[in-house]
Amino acid sequence: MPLISFKKNRTPLSVEPGANLMKALLDGGLPVASSCGGDGVCAKCKIQILEGEQNLSPANETEKFLKESKGIPAGQRISCQCEVLGDITVDTTYW
Ligand code: FES
Repeated sequence: MPLISFKKNRTPLSVEPGANLMKALLDGGLPVASSCGGDGVCAKCKIQILEGEQNLSPANETEKFLKESKGIPAGQRISCQCEVLGDITVDTTYW
């Protein structure tokens, strides 16, 4: 089972392989910024990936478009658009 770990002092979350990152964080009780509810429109759900980016699904067309049009830097992923395939460590500015 993939583990989502955090930079700050939180217990890691164990998730099903292929779990949607945003949903996994919400299910784990963490807030995730959003104004589109995961429809791939707002890009507010961006999450900093500190370790294990290779353990996330590759960016789909929606994520590629959002990252380019909103200027999302490398190292951040649109959490509602990616799946957790292995261990990762994540952070946001508001946790
Ligand atoms: S929640 Fe809006 S793009 Fe992810």
